[in-house]
Amino acid sequence: MIIVQNASVNILGIETSCDETAAAVVADGANVKSSIVTSQARIHEKYGGVVPEIASRAHIENIYPVITEALDTAKVTKDDLSAIAVANQPGLTIALIVGVTAAKTLSVVWDKPLIAVNHLHAHLQSAMLAEQNLQLPAVALIVSGGHTCLYDCPGAPGLELKMLGRCIDDAAGEAFDKVASILKLPYPGGPSIEKTAQKGNAKEIDFPRSLLGSDSLDFSFSGIKTAVLYHCRGQDMKGKSGVDSMTERQIADIAASFQQAIVDVLVEKTRRAVEKVNAKTVLLGGGVAANSVLRTGLAEMCESFVPAKKLLVAPKPYCTDNAVMVASLAYHKYKAGLFADLTLEPKASG
Ligand code: KG4
Ligand code: ZN
Repeated sequence: MIIVQNASVNILGIETSCDETAAAVVADGANVKSSIVTSQARIHEKYGGVVPEIASRAHIENIYPVITEALDTAKVTKDDLSAIAVANQPGLTIALIVGVTAAKTLSVVWDKPLIAVNHLHAHLQSAMLAEQNLQLPAVALIVSGGHTCLYDCPGAPGLELKMLGRCIDDAAGEAFDKVASILKLPYPGGPSIEKTAQKGNAKEIDFPRSLLGSDSLDFSFSGIKTAVLYHCRGQDMKGKSGVDSMTERQIADIAASFQQAIVDVLVEKTRRAVEKVNAKTVLLGGGVAANSVLRTGLAEMCESFVPAKKLLVAPKPYCTDNAVMVASLAYHKYKAGLFADLTLEPKASG
């Protein structure tokens, strides 16, 4: 195995944890040379959510062209690569296995080191892409379709992490997707709710904010989803015909009130985490981090501290699943000599 010790460390990142097939080449952890993402949202739209078997088959079809395009766009060949990195957990095992198999194969055939990356830790990394001087300790809020987690980052983020809280039922993104489905808005739900909410009044309906006790850092979003369902269809689920009989304005009010309730909980839990570890910096990543109301809510919370906490938010193209975050985190693992071998397996949890 040749470990390339040149000035520039180019890493090919591969990501197939859910319904995006992605590959990217990133130099030295932050210089994005290419980022190719093939979304399967259109395929899964008619089912209202990701169908794992269909996702896996689409990854198999997409993986080779996506990797080839990532190398071509970056204008690099295999000889310029220092390592192959892949997200191997958490996610849909049947989807992860496509990326893991591709990465292991390239590692052998091209004789490159293999680096395994945790998908959630990678989301966190995308919040730090442009940051040279990270002030520690930091708290990271990762909000995606499958996970909602708060991390304490006492040292090198992505390498040294302690989970402070996690969702005990539906993740924030999952709640957005399910409520969008109740409101008959297009999949994926997050962007649809955000767009619809712009025309609504966030104070119109007081949906529950589940805080799980005064010092809990865990999240629970299944109650709010049920509250939206009851609001739309009545407590007996029979009395009303749901959104079909509502005006556009009523639907927008529900979307805005729901979004505000989710944001309020995410902001409050993050504030508690900041106080708990006396964080200097707050990192925000994951698909839901693309939400402007959440970005503003966290910014205001950070500003309310004296001195203000620094908020680092993932750039919008790197909030939802991508491979830049994988290659970027892998750079730090490369520097630390943290390599995987061919026993690497995909794991649903993590
Ligand atoms: O991180 P991600 O791409 O995939 C997972 O790792 O799960 O996150 C996807 C989630 C979906 O639930 C989607 O509805 C949500 O992120 N999302 C948003 C927005 N954009 C994507 N949620 C709220 N507002 C958005 N603008
Ligand atoms: Zn993700």
